[in-house]
Amino acid sequence: MKYQGPWPRQAKLGGVLLAPSILSADFANLAADVKSVEALGADWVHVDVMDNHFVPNLTIGAPVVKSLRSKTKMPLDCHLMVENPEKLIPDFLNAGADGITIHVESTKDVLGCLKMIREGGARAGVTLRPGTSLSLVMPFLEMVDLVLVMTVEPGFGGQSFMMDQVEKIKLLRSEIDKRGLKVLIQVDGGVNTATRGFVDGVDCIVAGSAVFGAPDRGLALNALR
Ligand code: DX5
Ligand code: ZN
Repeated sequence: MKYQGPWPRQAKLGGVLLAPSILSADFANLAADVKSVEALGADWVHVDVMDNHFVPNLTIGAPVVKSLRSKTKMPLDCHLMVENPEKLIPDFLNAGADGITIHVESTKDVLGCLKMIREGGARAGVTLRPGTSLSLVMPFLEMVDLVLVMTVEPGFGGQSFMMDQVEKIKLLRSEIDKRGLKVLIQVDGGVNTATRGFVDGVDCIVAGSAVFGAPDRGLALNALR
């Protein structure tokens, strides 16, 4: 099932897409956790894939995406924090990923990866570590559907939002608008009710601990919306 919905600004009249990150869900009860946020109005499921090489943490792979595929209608938004993603992209496409985002620092062949993702029928995204210059992403704006701005160092949930990345979001927005592109801007890391205001105007917000760690997930989603 591929995501073929309209672009969010058309769909939600200025609203923002919410993508809860299952990194903060209960991995032993993943289907129930995903269904709970779907019922409460979440838009995408954010799947954080870590290989203990590109980042110092290890999470899940394509088999989990394959299992989730039949459990939710939400698009599966896979964030690959892995070295040489070209080796894994085919598995994620086959598993039913709707979107795949790769790190610009993780491969020598960013363009080849983006092409592979799009030719596989999924939405292609590119992202960068907080310390990486936005100039490394600019050459790919015409080849992607989404740019993810990391507002924490990738690797772990529950970290503090990095204020110094807000400028990057603004620069990216002005460049996307200047080129007349429909590229979505997504932010990921440390977004909660206290930091939400700093990312006004983005198209998609990833939130892990702020959603799955909240006593009332519905309230948390509404507050982020
Ligand atoms: C970090 C991941 C994030 C993480 C966000 O490497 O990419 O998606 O789960 O978690 P919070 O929202 O808790 O910062
Ligand atoms: Zn992520």
